[in-house]
Amino acid sequence: MCGITACVADGDVVDTVLTGLKNLEYRGYDSAGVATLNGEGVRVHKREGGIDEMVADADGLDLGGQFGLGHTRWSTHGAPTDENAHPHTDCTGTVAVVHNGIIENYADLRAELSAAGHLFTSETDTEVVPHLIEDGLAAGLDAEAAFRRAIDRLEGSYAIAVVVDGTDAVFATRRGSPLVLGVDGDRRFLASDVPSFLEFTSRVVYLEDGDVVRLTPGDHEITDADGDPISRQIDTVEWGSEDAERDGFDHYMLKEIHEQPAALERAINGRITDDNRVHLEEFPPGSFADVGEVHFLSCGTSNHASVYAQQMLRDRGVPAYAFTAGEYATTPAPVSDDTLVVAVTQSGETADTLASLRSANERGARTLAVTNVVGSTAAREADDALFIRAGPEIGVAATKTFSSQVVVLALLVERIVEDVTGEPSAEAEALLSAMRELPSQVDSVVRESTAASLANRYAERAGTFFIGRGVAYPVACEGALKFKEISYEHAEGFAAGELKHGPLALVTPDTPVIGVFSGKHDTKTLNNVEEVRSRGAPVIGVAAETSDHVAGAVDEFLPVPETHPDLSGVLANVQLQLVSYHVADLLDRSIDKPRNLAKSVTVE
Ligand code: F6R
Repeated sequence: MCGITACVADGDVVDTVLTGLKNLEYRGYDSAGVATLNGEGVRVHKREGGIDEMVADADGLDLGGQFGLGHTRWSTHGAPTDENAHPHTDCTGTVAVVHNGIIENYADLRAELSAAGHLFTSETDTEVVPHLIEDGLAAGLDAEAAFRRAIDRLEGSYAIAVVVDGTDAVFATRRGSPLVLGVDGDRRFLASDVPSFLEFTSRVVYLEDGDVVRLTPGDHEITDADGDPISRQIDTVEWGSEDAERDGFDHYMLKEIHEQPAALERAINGRITDDNRVHLEEFPPGSFADVGEVHFLSCGTSNHASVYAQQMLRDRGVPAYAFTAGEYATTPAPVSDDTLVVAVTQSGETADTLASLRSANERGARTLAVTNVVGSTAAREADDALFIRAGPEIGVAATKTFSSQVVVLALLVERIVEDVTGEPSAEAEALLSAMRELPSQVDSVVRESTAASLANRYAERAGTFFIGRGVAYPVACEGALKFKEISYEHAEGFAAGELKHGPLALVTPDTPVIGVFSGKHDTKTLNNVEEVRSRGAPVIGVAAETSDHVAGAVDEFLPVPETHPDLSGVLANVQLQLVSYHVADLLDRSIDKPRNLAKSVTVE
């Protein structure tokens, strides 16, 4: 989704804005722009294409100023063109605006403003904002009052930052889209996400919906919609800027695959007792004693982690249902007093997930966010939050956050089961003991995987199918999602038993089938493997290294260390991440920024 940045300081901020923007490029990369304000007025430079192209084009332009805005775009309204790139300005060039989100009533506002003589130069929803501010200024309001009057007219979701000629400030607000403030001496930063300014400061203020911010060099003022001051504490984020750098790897995705052992260490640190019981500081024993059923709400990769947790809970006798958040938001399942609703979201800002979480909140359900981002909207809006501690993930394709989600959800599952049944599950001790070994096992998969040579043989086929059962089913789906997302090659993930109910018609010698085996239902999945092999499809098996029954029944074997069956999917998934990565690399795809995608999708 789009990324916005802003900076004010005693000196020129343009380089800082550009750096902050570059650090946010994963949020959108089809056009980019900056605006600066100095004593001579507002200057805007923007174009279709990536940030590097925009910066190269800026050579020779005098963009200096103490007040700056930046924007990197993922198109929603209007194609990626120079005109549709942000910042957007009013008719007089007095006001410049960057926006992330969607202004739902923009068509009405645009019609009204056009009728009043405003000329629009883009197809975006955003452009109504500078024109509304222009109207306020023309009516004699000062810049802040004109800004407030403009945002009062907006419906939808937005994080907006604005500069207005003749003022010594940046104004900003948020409603439904993320916006964080950074503090460092005379400098103040705004950004859609903390990694934008992490190399400058780790001191942040998490802004809340409705906050209006006025940034001046060395100061910031937060007020509510009525202009009354609001005090928000300055937090220190634990992530360092090195966490958000590529560190010699060719791609962030590869770096983040390699970071999984450390991420998993952090995810479980302090959460397993010496006698292999779950210890969640946030949820002491008994916290979930009243839970009768669990709903998981999430999208994409996070949804696969949710299905994984759903399978584990069902296996342990607790009713659980993983819903895709976009559907739940419009067609919610009934909740009752004993329903626990768990929103699983890496960013904590995915609009579909937030909409479904809000629907659950409104209907009185008990809600919990499982997220990577402290201070995110999901963490703040749910009744409780549980953090996965994966560190910043910059690659658009989620990798380490899936592993961390699964492990933290597995801990949550065992806590819930113990609370609901009054005793640890029959699996708990073995699972928790195996979990301690998981980081080093992931490390050995990353170091020893032969996925690169397999990718050489299987790239560019008519299609690649992924199948699995139990916890291996969501891993198959995740494998297929990653494969199509970064290689742009057709791939689908299926519950192994479903293949014969239709998709089998697509299976040919040119459609490799990747079977994921957890060790729990392998015989049945092997039957499905036979069904595809007899149609000539090459089969790749991903299973524990000791699984001779699998190794002997497939054409290629990607082994993983032996672990508890409910954790096997984490290891298998690392093999699948590497297969996708190497296929995409071979095909020279844009691995960290796949076409048409963006990290953190903040529109429904
Ligand atoms: C795929 C991917 C997406 C996200 C989805 C939800 O690699 O990253 O499918 O998982 O957009 O995002 P979060 O977890 O931030 O809610």
